[in-house]
Amino acid sequence: MEKIRIQGGHDFRLKGDVRISGSKNAALPALAAALLTGEPVTLRNIPLVKDVFSMLKLMRELGLESALQGTDLTLKVPRILSEEASYNLVKLMRASFLVLGPLLARFGKAIVAQPGGCAIGLRPVDLHIAGLQRLGANITLEHGYIKAEADRLQGADIRFEKKTVGGTEHLVMAATLARGETVLRNCAQEPEISNLCELLVKMGAKIEGIGEETIRVVGVDQLGGADHEIIPDRIETGTFLVAGALTRGDIRLTGTEPAHVPTTIDKLRYSGATIDVDGTDIRVQGSDEIRPQDVTTSPYPGFPTDMQAQFMALMTQAAGMSIITETIFDRRFQHVNELLRLGAVIEVIGDKAVVHGRTPLSGAEVTATDLRASASLILAGLIASGETIVNDVEHIDRGYERIEEKLRGLGARIERIRD
Ligand code: EPU
Repeated sequence: MEKIRIQGGHDFRLKGDVRISGSKNAALPALAAALLTGEPVTLRNIPLVKDVFSMLKLMRELGLESALQGTDLTLKVPRILSEEASYNLVKLMRASFLVLGPLLARFGKAIVAQPGGCAIGLRPVDLHIAGLQRLGANITLEHGYIKAEADRLQGADIRFEKKTVGGTEHLVMAATLARGETVLRNCAQEPEISNLCELLVKMGAKIEGIGEETIRVVGVDQLGGADHEIIPDRIETGTFLVAGALTRGDIRLTGTEPAHVPTTIDKLRYSGATIDVDGTDIRVQGSDEIRPQDVTTSPYPGFPTDMQAQFMALMTQAAGMSIITETIFDRRFQHVNELLRLGAVIEVIGDKAVVHGRTPLSGAEVTATDLRASASLILAGLIASGETIVNDVEHIDRGYERIEEKLRGLGARIERIRD
C-alpha cells in the first residue's frame, strides 16, 4: 500500500510555478465519445491519472485501439469486440457508465453494469436511463447489468428533473446519432460538458446551445474522426489556489483557464488572498490573516462540490466561524473526521459543516475515502506541525497527476512511501 508522507509546519509557504494538467472530468466523457465513430479521434492534453487508465482498460475490452504519446492520445474503435462493460471495471469508476449511450447509438445494443455504491453519497443513474428511454431505447435490468437496445435512437424533447453533469453528457452523445432533433432542457453547464460538445461538433455532430441550459442536437447518420484539446483541470487549479492561500505562499499556476474557476477565485479573494490573472496563468499570494467565508456548493457556475473539502481545510485557518453547505452529494463530509484528527474543530449538522477557526493543526496519520477528501488532507498536512501520513493514496491518483511531485516543486516536503 502506498502512502503520502508530509513534513509540514505552520510557517511553511509554497513558492514557485506549477503547471496544471488536462481535466480528468473532461477527458473521461471524451474517451467515451470515441466509441461513436470508427475513425481515429486524437485527444490532446490528457491527464495521466488512474481514472483515465481505468477507462482505457474498459474500452479496450469493447474494441478500442489506442496509442498514447506524451499527453496526446489517439483512439480508434473500428469494430466492436464486446458490447458488455463488466462490473469489475464499472465499479472502479462511475464515469465508465457513459459508454452505454455511445455503444447503443452506434451499434444498437449495450450491456453495462449498473454502478453501485459510492463514497460520497447516493449516485443513481435514473436520469441517464429515463433519458435514453425517451430516445427510444428498450432498457432492462438483469442481474446487476443494464441492457439497452434500439434499432436507431429517435430524437425527443427531454427535461432533466435536476442538473446532472454525466446525464447531460450521456444524452448529448446518444442524441448525435439519433434520427431527428433532440432538445435537452435544464442541462448542467459545466465547462467539461462544453468541451465534450465541441469535440462532438468536430466529429460532425450538429449541436446548438453549447454551454447553455437548453441544448439542441440534430442527429446525423455517422460521425468521423477529430483532433481535440482537453481543457485544463479546474479542480486541480482550485486545489493549488487553495494550497497557495492556505500556506500563505506565492505561487503561479500555468496552463490553466481562469474563466473556469470564477467562484473559487472570488471566495479566495474574499478570504484575503491576492489573485492575479494573466492569460492562462493565475498567481495566488496568501494573506497572513484568512477571513472566514460561508460557501454553498451548487452546479456550475456555483461553488463546485469538488472543491468543498479543500476549501474546508483553508477555513480551519480562518479567523472565525464559517459554514460550508453541501447540496450536491449527501455523504460528502467524510474528510471532516480526518481533519478533526489533525486538530480542526468542525461540527456537521445535516448538510452543513460548521468550521471554527483558527486552530493550529498537528500532523497525524489519516485516511481518506475519496479523491477530493484526500486532496484536502494533503493540503492540511502542509501546514500541520510535524509529520502527516495520508493513507490510501490510490484515491488521490485517480484524479491528480503526480500531486506530490508538483507540490515538491513548490517546496513542500512530501513524498510517496510504501508500507
Ligand atoms: N443524480 C441523480 N440521478 C442521475 C444522475 C445524477 O439523482 O441519474 C444526482 C446525483 O446523485 C447528484 C447530482 O444529481 O446528487 C449531481 O450529479 P451529477 O450527475 O452532476 O454528477 P456526476 O456526473 O456523477 C460529475 C463529476 C463529479 C462531480 C459531479 C458534480 C465526472 C466524471 N464526475 O459527476 O466529480 O462531483 O459531476 O459536479 O465528471 C470528482 O472529480 O471528484 C467527482 C466526484
